[in-house]
Amino acid sequence: MIQLSSAGKRYGHKLLFENADWLITPESRVGLVGANGTGKSTIMKILAGSESLDYGAISRAKGISTGYLPQDGLTLTGRTIFAECMSVFAELDAIEKEMESLTRSMSELDHEGPEYSNVADRYQKLEHEFVARDGYTLEAQVASRRLEAPDGRILRRLADAHRPRQASVAEAQPAAARRAH
Ligand SMILES: Nc1ncnc2c1ncn2[C@@H]1O[C@H](COP(=O)(O)OP(=O)(O)OP(=O)(O)O)[C@@H](O)[C@H]1O
Ligand SMILES: [Mg+2]
Repeated sequence: MIQLSSAGKRYGHKLLFENADWLITPESRVGLVGANGTGKSTIMKILAGSESLDYGAISRAKGISTGYLPQDGLTLTGRTIFAECMSVFAELDAIEKEMESLTRSMSELDHEGPEYSNVADRYQKLEHEFVARDGYTLEAQVASRRLEAPDGRILRRLADAHRPRQASVAEAQPAAARRAH
């Protein structure tokens, strides 16, 4: 949950918004629509914590973390969006690979030997971590939680697949706005 209360922001003499109240609840998917230059990106940066308010308050549920996918300055990596999403979870991937290699070792080692119990301990520790971080359901979550933009690009709330209490803020530019840039 993220909440703005009586929030206001100005840049110099330009007041972007004032007395804004906004409650974003868990699992909600929200969009912000407004004319160019009216402060949409600024609010998103405030929600993501990279900009601060001049008035009012922002509060976040304990344990929540936010991500921000900016509107400009992105570079293409040549990877698919699905692969790009999955790359966030490279650490989990590394754990999974090590678990596979430990499984192979366990099948080859003498079950009574000291080396086996070291390998088995390590496996158990990794598996505990993997389960705690939803490793087994990750791919399904990434596939099911995507949002498809009108021009076919697929956006998704990256952090949701990782931790249920995270939020992310993604900026989707409509085709018309992109042409104007
Ligand atoms: N760091 C900054 N310092 C001063 N002015 C800023 C800064 N960031 C944004 N602004 C100004 O604040 C206004 C709102 O900017 P913002 O980028 O939030 O608008 P936006 O609604 O996202 O616009 P767009 O539709 O073009 O994406 C603009 O006039 C912009 O020039
Ligand atoms: Mg913007």
